[in-house]
Amino acid sequence: MSDAPETATDDSDATADLFDKIVNLCKRRGFVFPSAEIYGGFRSTYDYGPVGVNMLRNVKDAWWRSMVQMRTDVVGLDAAILSPPQVWEASGHFANFTDPLVDCRNCGARHRLDKLDDPDVCPTCDAKGQFTEPRQFNLMFKTHAGPVEDAGAVAYLRPETAQGMFTNFVNVLNTSRKKPPFGIAQVGKSFRNEITPQNFVFRTREFEQMEMEYFVPPDEADAWYRYWCDERLAWYVEHGIPAEMLRLRPHDADELSHYSSGTSDVEFLFPWGWDELEGIANRGAYDLTQHAAHSGEKLDYFDQATNTRYTPHVIEPAAGATRTMMAFLMAAYAEEEVRGEQRTVLRLHHRIAPFQIAVLPLSKKDTLVPPAQAVLAQLQPHFMCDYDETQAIGRRYRRQDELGTPYCVTIDFESLEDQAVTVRERDSMEQERVAIADLLGWFRERLD
Ligand code: GAP
Repeated sequence: MSDAPETATDDSDATADLFDKIVNLCKRRGFVFPSAEIYGGFRSTYDYGPVGVNMLRNVKDAWWRSMVQMRTDVVGLDAAILSPPQVWEASGHFANFTDPLVDCRNCGARHRLDKLDDPDVCPTCDAKGQFTEPRQFNLMFKTHAGPVEDAGAVAYLRPETAQGMFTNFVNVLNTSRKKPPFGIAQVGKSFRNEITPQNFVFRTREFEQMEMEYFVPPDEADAWYRYWCDERLAWYVEHGIPAEMLRLRPHDADELSHYSSGTSDVEFLFPWGWDELEGIANRGAYDLTQHAAHSGEKLDYFDQATNTRYTPHVIEPAAGATRTMMAFLMAAYAEEEVRGEQRTVLRLHHRIAPFQIAVLPLSKKDTLVPPAQAVLAQLQPHFMCDYDETQAIGRRYRRQDELGTPYCVTIDFESLEDQAVTVRERDSMEQERVAIADLLGWFRERLD
């Protein structure tokens, strides 16, 4: 799988090397595979393997837990991916969701003008002054709903999850007993016909987003914008990304999206430099006003306490699940020497790691497998567990280190006598003998 960082410079061999190592680990250990690989892959699309699918779920669950489960002011939604053109007309995506595209007359390569280091030089063939005039290219995927491919059947794959929250504003208001300030959260797939997908799963055409639209009284918008910037930055640190690999960068006026009066990006220090993980935008009343005007429906709020009607303003923290998973992998990756041997370890937070526990009988002998499976049966309902009885124990530990599994439980011959197991912690590699009867409580204390 070769998808080297296009933006890495020649002198950043070490960082490009780190990037390649992580991409290789993802393939080797079952995190991420190139999609349709047996046919040579398909245009920067990726499949999440047996290990990666656990991790991606954990990223989304950790987000849902902090944005929905642990709050009383945010509710969830799962809106359709297919949507009619009216939604995108109202949202401004037809007019504004475009990238400037240039073609190189020398080699035919196509590039995004705003992403070129030098807007006059083709990065593919180094030709100077050979670009065509920029054209605006709309990023939405168009399709047809139903058997007839005529104009009346045109539909779009959503390029963001956000619009489903705006079009359901009244439905949610009427059914959830919430009033501003309150939020609607959604996790799901989005699709963009990116001109230059790149850097592994950082920018792909099909990806997952975790977005929340927080509806507030207009005079509270600035305060909530600052609140959500702080909350979201803290979420990444809480889940194991070192603070020095994160920063909050306010957008300059010329960077703002068509709807935004203020946006800050949570940026992560990727191997190729600082880049966006999440945008927190103050969208004002733009979306509800637009959808009200285009649909003819009233999308506002009547506050009985003050006897006033107003259109709520919206603060939107919008993150990429797949991109965030990549950042967690990059922040967690470490190589170190242990007793003269190299070990690779993913120091993932236990809520993000694909498995929380690996259960490992010391040998495949008949005597050890039944008690190992009994331990597995005790832990499996509570934690995502891996079970592995092949190879020498040292190799199995190394494999679990590469998967980021925080704890390994080894059942050995002594276990048959003392009804206890050895628990090995991933980062310190320290081992502790724990009674099988106490094991569930022991883990509950450490893996909340
Ligand atoms: N509703 C606002 C919105 O969609 P965005 O900045 O375009 O804002 C939010 O997208 C997040 O979605 C980004 O910060 C990024 O993490 C993720 N994202 C956007 N485009 C992506 C792509 N092509 N591939 C992977 N993730 C992407």
